[in-house]
Amino acid sequence: MAEKKVFVTYKIPDAGIELIRKKGFSVKVHSKENLITRQELIKNVKDADAVISLLTDKIDKDVIDQMKQCRIIANYAVGFNNIDIEYAKSKGIIVTNTPDVLTDSTADLTMALVLACARRLNEGEKMMRRKQFKGWRPELLLGYELKNKIFGIVGMGRIGFAVAKRAFAFGCKIIYYSKNKNPEAEKFFNARKVSLKTLMKNSDIISLHIPLTDKTKNLINSDMLNLMKKNAIFINTARGEVVDEKHLIGLLKNKKIFAAGFDVYENEPAVNPELLKLDNVVLLPHIGSATIEARNAMSELAAKNVISVLSGKKPLTPVN
Ligand code: DGY
Repeated sequence: MAEKKVFVTYKIPDAGIELIRKKGFSVKVHSKENLITRQELIKNVKDADAVISLLTDKIDKDVIDQMKQCRIIANYAVGFNNIDIEYAKSKGIIVTNTPDVLTDSTADLTMALVLACARRLNEGEKMMRRKQFKGWRPELLLGYELKNKIFGIVGMGRIGFAVAKRAFAFGCKIIYYSKNKNPEAEKFFNARKVSLKTLMKNSDIISLHIPLTDKTKNLINSDMLNLMKKNAIFINTARGEVVDEKHLIGLLKNKKIFAAGFDVYENEPAVNPELLKLDNVVLLPHIGSATIEARNAMSELAAKNVISVLSGKKPLTPVN
């Protein structure tokens, strides 16, 4: 029997690669400095039995049509909006993601953004580096405490729940908007399920934890954004296209809300230049899951999905 080939579109932590090699499958890692181009992707998926992809790899119908013997696309991310999962399914290709293992990392980063916005950490940092600190002042860089603030979570799934846990520990009151009721969040954090409108209108902090789908694209549109309180802090560690980014920038520019923390952007990796001019934003380069623990575990989980499917077993974390 011919050796099964696994193609990895970019260098990921060794943990998973080693697992696959140990099983006797061959692994080709496209380990160039730059992300794989569309041409390179099309060329390399042709004879692969499995592909491990990044969230930046657009795997649409045209790419899938080039997959002549692929049985699994294991996305190295929890989000999978980069893959046409229905078309993959119609071709008998399983798609998997990496849930759970990055939940805590993403929730930690969300709280880092919340705190950075609430306490104006980026402005303080800039002041120090520019040698503009002239000594303690009673009203220097005043921000907000988290205690007793209303924390609105859009999407009470795994990450939303982990954020609720953290926010509750800071003394926040939790409200959430979600498809389904989350009895655990209600029991442990006194969380209350509300409409999206109510959440946008009443929250002091709003944090997004929903996947990007046809239904959630631009869910947080200008009407929703206009409902926010003047002291609101808006955090997005989900996907840029869920929000009307241009409108949000207008609100921040005109100080209609207090601040916003971004880990993701509408046209990633391009960042709207208007954002860069604002002081009341904290901008991060999509590092929600960027911890050593999470990235190693993501590598292992992607590998275990590949091994399972190539060994004729069920995938661990399928999405289609
Ligand atoms: C994911 O895995 O989808 C996250 O966006 C990574 O940070």
